[in-house]
Amino acid sequence: MSSRRGLHHAAAASGALLLFSASVLLSAVPAARGQQETEREEEFSYSLDAENGPAHWGQIKEEWSACGKGEMQSPIDLAGPRVSLVRILGHLNHSYAPANASIINRGHDIMLRFEGDPGSVSIGGTAYHLRQLHWHAPTEHSVNGRRYDMELHMVHQSAQGKAAVIGVLYEIGARDPFLHMLEPYLEMIAQQRQREEKVGVVDARGARGRASVYYRYVGSLTTPPCAQGVIWTIVKRVRTVSRHQLELLREAVHDDMEKNARPRQEVNSRDISIFRPIQQNRH
Ligand SMILES: *[C@@H]1O[C@H](CO)[C@@H](O)[C@H](O)[C@H]1NC(C)=O
Ligand SMILES: *[C@@H]1O[C@H](CO)[C@@H](O)[C@H](O)[C@H]1NC(C)=O
Repeated sequence: MSSRRGLHHAAAASGALLLFSASVLLSAVPAARGQQETEREEEFSYSLDAENGPAHWGQIKEEWSACGKGEMQSPIDLAGPRVSLVRILGHLNHSYAPANASIINRGHDIMLRFEGDPGSVSIGGTAYHLRQLHWHAPTEHSVNGRRYDMELHMVHQSAQGKAAVIGVLYEIGARDPFLHMLEPYLEMIAQQRQREEKVGVVDARGARGRASVYYRYVGSLTTPPCAQGVIWTIVKRVRTVSRHQLELLREAVHDDMEKNARPRQEVNSRDISIFRPIQQNRH
């Protein structure tokens, strides 16, 4: 059910629609920005029955059309029978390092944006630099039909503007140490209705943890413009987050929404792989 404020948002957004469809005609989207998420999230909603809900994202703006017509959309169900096993040497390689960051309320989620250089992951010989991370609840991806309680997205971008996202799934249990460190800032945003707080130095290594087994497929951003060709890495090991932390994330957003997860999309003809390291010799 959408709240009264949710409906108000929807009405405001459909009014804004007329303005935006005019400006779309005048401004071309530079290619390098094609795989970036929109920072004006008030324009869309996660409420299934809202005019600007997930089923309509593709019609809100010309450059969001992939949300409706794309054949390689995310999230998907990582269903056992269609997942093929790939054996690899070593782990997902990264060069994360501590960097300054700010925490930002984007209207539908909370994002941690890096200002310095927090490092990169290497995929197929290309470096994807970590730009920001944000949280969805419940999870957007599911595993064999099961959705968990929260999903962290670590959004990376190559020098050519191609995106690679690492997703981590959480279920309610012990608190997450990385979010625990951010709790004072989430509380500040929740109490003051501020949109942004400087956090200081953050080490992204604490966010991802170990990622020895992971799913890999090619999909899209899960928020408008839903740009495709995004390399997804979903860490198989499910981690834990406390109920309190989930509530803090939700309160900080101030949108009265119960959830901020896009519904699952069709897999179509895509390959999904699970990468497992080759066992080292045991003695
Ligand atoms: C990670 O780097 C090591 C050493 O450079 C390499 O042997 C290994 O294949 C890399 N792993 C992946 C998954 O790319
Ligand atoms: C973080 O920002 C502070 C203040 O601007 C600066 O002194 C410090 O060197 C920065 N740290 C890193 C790791 O970039």
